[in-house]
Amino acid sequence: MGLAKMSGALFPVLLWYTCISWMENPGGSVYEMGQVIAVVPAAGKGSRMGLEGPGKQFVYLNGRPVLAHTLMALESLAEIDGIILVTRQDQVSLGWQVVNDYAIGKVQAVVPGGATRQESVSAGLGHVPTDTEIVVVHDGARPLIDTQLIDAAITGAREYGAVGVAVPVKDTIKVRDEMGLVISTPPRGSLWAIQTPQAFRYEILLAAHTKAKASGYVGTDDCELVEELGKPVRLIQGSYRNIKLTTPEDLAIAETLLSVDKDKGNAKMEQSPIPRVGWGYDLHRLVKGRPLILGGVEIPFDKGLLGHSDADVLLHALMDSLLGAMALGDIGHHFPDTEKRWQGANSLHLLSQVKEIITRSSASQLSISHIDCMIIAERPRLAPYIPQMRLNIVETLGLIPDQVSIKATTNEGLGPVGQGEAIVAHAVATILA
Ligand code: CTP
Ligand code: MG
Repeated sequence: MGLAKMSGALFPVLLWYTCISWMENPGGSVYEMGQVIAVVPAAGKGSRMGLEGPGKQFVYLNGRPVLAHTLMALESLAEIDGIILVTRQDQVSLGWQVVNDYAIGKVQAVVPGGATRQESVSAGLGHVPTDTEIVVVHDGARPLIDTQLIDAAITGAREYGAVGVAVPVKDTIKVRDEMGLVISTPPRGSLWAIQTPQAFRYEILLAAHTKAKASGYVGTDDCELVEELGKPVRLIQGSYRNIKLTTPEDLAIAETLLSVDKDKGNAKMEQSPIPRVGWGYDLHRLVKGRPLILGGVEIPFDKGLLGHSDADVLLHALMDSLLGAMALGDIGHHFPDTEKRWQGANSLHLLSQVKEIITRSSASQLSISHIDCMIIAERPRLAPYIPQMRLNIVETLGLIPDQVSIKATTNEGLGPVGQGEAIVAHAVATILA
């Protein structure tokens, strides 16, 4: 095609593209949306809740820790690119445990907080990449957050710079003195109760925290620091459901709100249970000087499987299929072989942990419907041991024998498996969730 002819064909396309770009962005500048990072302060003492143990962030609500509810909401929102979790110094590893158990892949760091909420947010902010466009601050103690609200706060922050989610107060508010005497009754129409999420352009939040730190100003939320900076803060309508777990009755309220959701979920499930299928595969080398453990059964043989844990190839494939069905990553993610505590680990014990992880991952009751496994091993003959393997799995997962199938075959002498150098296992799990 000649040049003149080609530009003739390209010209209308370029014109069309230019018009469309201009209509989308009439100012003419090329605007690219930058990354959004959530900072989750969860480093408080929870003194008003008065719980024993690790505190309100880790208490179980409807089958999972409060913090897991909060993080899962942030994880599920496509707009959010990364999460910085702030916990008490002594709870950093507990924080990571929740992150790993619930496969919150967006968490980039779990960092120790400070003595006040402001210091904790500031500590989190210190780990936010400097090229971030928007920072969303959301309390770990607000597990009932609706993702649409987070999204609205982010959109608002892009437009206005600083946005807080808030609800009109329901009660009439009084200002009183130390003696209990009423000083004034502010008109209720202009009173809003601030919540989180609060979203900011990164540079505004950073400037607000930097100024507050320099002047010693302490605020109870981040919008207040931006107000102190003299920048406008916009409130958008939040939700009365988005409660902060502060005093013991809040736990009961949150449980009730969540169980209403769960009932709705169950009603949906009764109409149409959703089967989820997961697949798992594993291979371990056969070597001298190791026990051969398959399905939790020690099988007499002159070789055993090499691995960091007990190398139970069958249970490893099975665990991966269960995690896969719920999109919760794989066993390497939950039980990394770089960690000493999994060295020589009993895989039946790991299987019971996987059951807990998948159970907690679903708001509605899930049930393992069926498991089918295949072991590929040239030797030894496995048939005599299969009934005990099935029993081990049945007992660990709380199933009935009919739900667990294990088959074994050889590789007809072909390849490394056929030469007796390794054993392979596959598993398929069906979960109704
Ligand atoms: N927070 C924090 N660091 C602090 C104090 C609070 O990260 N030093 C977090 C809390 O963990 C919570 C949120 O800020 O997610 C809101 O604080 P609040 O509800 O007051 O929690 P606590 O401070 O833990 O509770 P209390 O004030 O009753 O001790
Ligand atoms: Mg507090």
